Amino acid sequence: MTVDLQAAVHAESVVDVRRLSPALGAEVIALDISRPVSDAVIEALRATLDQHGVLLFRGQRLNAEAHITFSRRFGVLQEVAQKQYQLEGQPLIYVIGNVEENGRPIGDPSVGRLWHSDQSFLPHPAIGSLLYGVQCPPEGAATLFANMYAAYDALPPQMRAHIERLHAVHSFSEYYEALRERDPTQPELTDTRRALYPDVIHPLVRRNPRTGRKALYVNPGYATGIREMPGATGARLLRDLCDHATREEFVYAHAWRNGDVLFWDNLAVNHKGTPFDTGRFVRRMHRTTVAGNAAIYAASLLG
Ligand code: OGA
Ligand code: MN
Repeated sequence: MTVDLQAAVHAESVVDVRRLSPALGAEVIALDISRPVSDAVIEALRATLDQHGVLLFRGQRLNAEAHITFSRRFGVLQEVAQKQYQLEGQPLIYVIGNVEENGRPIGDPSVGRLWHSDQSFLPHPAIGSLLYGVQCPPEGAATLFANMYAAYDALPPQMRAHIERLHAVHSFSEYYEALRERDPTQPELTDTRRALYPDVIHPLVRRNPRTGRKALYVNPGYATGIREMPGATGARLLRDLCDHATREEFVYAHAWRNGDVLFWDNLAVNHKGTPFDTGRFVRRMHRTTVAGNAAIYAASLLG
């Protein structure tokens, strides 16, 4: 048996999991993550995440402390960069949605409407995100996920060999401009914020630092070109790879229920939010973010 398979079989003897969809994802059954969780269970969850890319925990009731305590078991958490979307008194919790408090919007209204991987515009992007559905609209607002391991595996062998040597340019400011085009109520990008996030490059193929499994690492939200291929050829390759990665067989659409927690691995999956009727429904989500770092990033490079 391979080491991966052994880890998966072992994980499934520790936690009860069920596949979420043919494309990706696993639901973890009957685990209350607001209570103390043993190291063995955390290790099993990590192995399950390595295998399936997304974990779902249903029926959770998490206050900020419990959400943070559980998330911390997977790494160092990151403060929310935009202070106006931090939960009051909880800089580690990112509020997402159209929710208002005392007549004032407290959530980020337009998160992730393009396919993306969280923070791919940073040199060392976040490794994981744990999104908790506090109040979820009964229709719309599904979150889509695409399996980037499967997308890589499905490429023809010559294409895989070709792109392993290439890098994409990822740009926060271009993403932001695209967002503003769709939603003109977004404020202009300030020079300070633009300066915080200069363009970065990432290889088109990275590997899971623990299992070594290769994933296509590119997304149409932040990637603006291919470093080694300026001009139309690179632009076409980028577009083709992004289109390929969202083929139906790689995609899972999550219809949220109140109390769902989704934990995704930003190397294994891309994701995207979808609209809902903001006039009729309130959406309130809380997210924690597990930070990346130089060592984890280095371990994801093919070398
Ligand atoms: C995120 C994100 C999409 C959504 O939280 O990183 O992209 O559907 N969310 O809320
Ligand atoms: Mn996101």
